Amino acid sequence: MSFKNRHVISMKDFSRKEIDYVLDTAEKLEPVARGENRSQLLDGKIVALLFFEPSTRTRLSFEVATQRLSGQVLNLGSVEASSVMKGENLADTIRVISNYADLIVLRHPLDGSSRMASEFSSVPVINGGDGSVHHPTQTFLDLYTIRRESHLEGLKIAMAGDLKYGRTVHSLCHALSLYGAEMTFVSPPELSMPSEIVKDLRKNKIRVRETNSLEEIIGDVEVLYMTRVQRERFLDPEEYEKVKHRLKVTGSLLKNVDSNLKILHPLPRVNEISPEVDATPHACYFQQAFYGVPIRMALLALAMGVVE
Ligand code: CP
Repeated sequence: MSFKNRHVISMKDFSRKEIDYVLDTAEKLEPVARGENRSQLLDGKIVALLFFEPSTRTRLSFEVATQRLSGQVLNLGSVEASSVMKGENLADTIRVISNYADLIVLRHPLDGSSRMASEFSSVPVINGGDGSVHHPTQTFLDLYTIRRESHLEGLKIAMAGDLKYGRTVHSLCHALSLYGAEMTFVSPPELSMPSEIVKDLRKNKIRVRETNSLEEIIGDVEVLYMTRVQRERFLDPEEYEKVKHRLKVTGSLLKNVDSNLKILHPLPRVNEISPEVDATPHACYFQQAFYGVPIRMALLALAMGVVE
């Protein structure tokens, strides 16, 4: 199975076998991610980071992943300091940077921008999140977290919060359908999972239920995947104010749950998980953020063809 020169744009571009291969590669690289072993896999390689939207985890974990593998990072830095401010379009920016670097990681607010960038790039493009649809490297690390901390096959999972705009849940439910997951979607009606995604899942024989109550389902799932309400995607700030605090995981919600329940969150959180949950054995979200390092190492090494 060769990933050399392959773009990473959407989870829909990957089969279950290919996803498992990425997860297996990440597992082998985990000691390097922890700093326990050293690696020269990306010696002499340059990874360009182009972030047109704010990011902490995706940007820094790609940076750490590159450095742990002895590669170097070329960072566009703030958009305000670049020629984008003079009106340069994304296609030209990508054409130029693909002559400077061996791989490009792109985060951009527009749906489809990574796919478009891949058409103008002479090197692999990894989508670091575009618009409200795709965030494949987050999905790879979510799958890795679930595999490490629970199990993938036939998982009973609830996804909760902003299911309308949350790109991580859109990618994740497609990927989990390959493993026969049972899915519960918990959201205020205004932020429910897009109907075409629900329809698609049902067409593929995935059991899906929808509710607006965490209390109703918390005793019945193995993983709860919380998400924040995406303020930046609301056109009307009043609409955001109405829904921003509707769902919250608290200590009291977790009083009688199964001891193996794992709570994930792509982060950043705003108000949807109380700090008292952090010290419980259910909290997995900081560990999940770490797993972004081995996963991004694996994707970099595979796309640049230094691991086969
Ligand atoms: N989970 C995630 O994408 O975080 P950042 O926005 O901080 O990269």
